[in-house]
Amino acid sequence: MTHVLVLGATGQVATALRRRLEGEHRLTVAGRSVLDLSDPVAAYEFVRGSGADVVVNAAAYTAVDRAETEAEAARALNATGPEAAARAAAEIGAPFIHFSTDYVFDGSKGSPYVETDPVNPLGVYGATKLEGEAAVAAANPRHVILRTSWVCSPDGANFLKTMLRLAAEKDEIGVVSDQHGRPTFASDLAEATVRIIEALLGDEDAGRYGVFHASSRGETTWYGFATAIMEGSAARGGPSCRVRPIGSAEYPTPVRRPADSRLDGARLEQVYGVRMPEWREALDRCLDQIYDRDTRRGDAT
Ligand SMILES: NC(=O)c1ccc[n+]([C@@H]2O[C@H](COP(=O)([O-])OP(=O)(O)OC[C@H]3O[C@@H](n4cnc5c(N)ncnc54)[C@H](OP(=O)(O)O)[C@@H]3O)[C@@H](O)[C@H]2O)c1
Repeated sequence: MTHVLVLGATGQVATALRRRLEGEHRLTVAGRSVLDLSDPVAAYEFVRGSGADVVVNAAAYTAVDRAETEAEAARALNATGPEAAARAAAEIGAPFIHFSTDYVFDGSKGSPYVETDPVNPLGVYGATKLEGEAAVAAANPRHVILRTSWVCSPDGANFLKTMLRLAAEKDEIGVVSDQHGRPTFASDLAEATVRIIEALLGDEDAGRYGVFHASSRGETTWYGFATAIMEGSAARGGPSCRVRPIGSAEYPTPVRRPADSRLDGARLEQVYGVRMPEWREALDRCLDQIYDRDTRRGDAT
């Protein structure tokens, strides 16, 4: 049985990975109460002593705006710690699967980004994730870096959950309509990760390593995504409210977001045969899970 070590426990992707891997592989989950990944010595020693066959890093500093004032904390968790963990994984002969972000790009390309496109992060979060990519790649030649985007799931804090909360509280909300991207669901990232693990442990092909883009197919804006969430919620008897398109200038944030951060998933499909689903189909599955869970709990509003 393959021993998979997952760094991160309660985050969106970590939770989905745990659900997907439990029972199928020997699984060790290390949330921050077990391992502070921002401590490189602890990270190195923990991974070195884990005996894992493969290490998946789902932990990260993900607070995009807060990172502007906590650059050192963001760098420690997104780059320094992962470097140490990836180095330790290399020493025990384990491939290292690591998640990164569409925010390594500035969004000015005007069409979906491929892995070799020039990077230019607009803020500290994107810059530290980019640093993490380079550090992981240098520390462990057997690395798979999955850049993803706009992650949502029934668990944790995310745009979808925020929209459902606001739908229950307000008659109308304004949502940014000039940022384009691909909402991606944690369960699909977990599924892709399982396929990658199986392929990596099945044969030793150097072409399987490197950076890959893993986001849903299709495209939308935050406004389009919010509208689809409201429609999907209403169709399931849940809350919904009116959504008004606004420009980014009307919703200022400490860090500018890329105007168009669509990621092209062709390489992931070619190398691993992983075709990510359309975001609308994935959204429907996610809403089904949320409402099914709430109905069983008896609090479906
Ligand atoms: N969220 C997005 O929209 C988005 C978009 C693009 C890329 N990504 C990337 O996708 C990956 C997963 O993101 P996510 O949305 O699942 O993140 P998330 O829900 O914010 O979860 C963050 C994870 O980091 C762990 N963590 C935080 N501080 C830690 C520390 N000091 N030591 C160890 N672990 C620590 C948390 O641990 P606990 O489990 O112990 O709480 C949690 O599992 C990340 O690499 C992120 O950069 C996310």
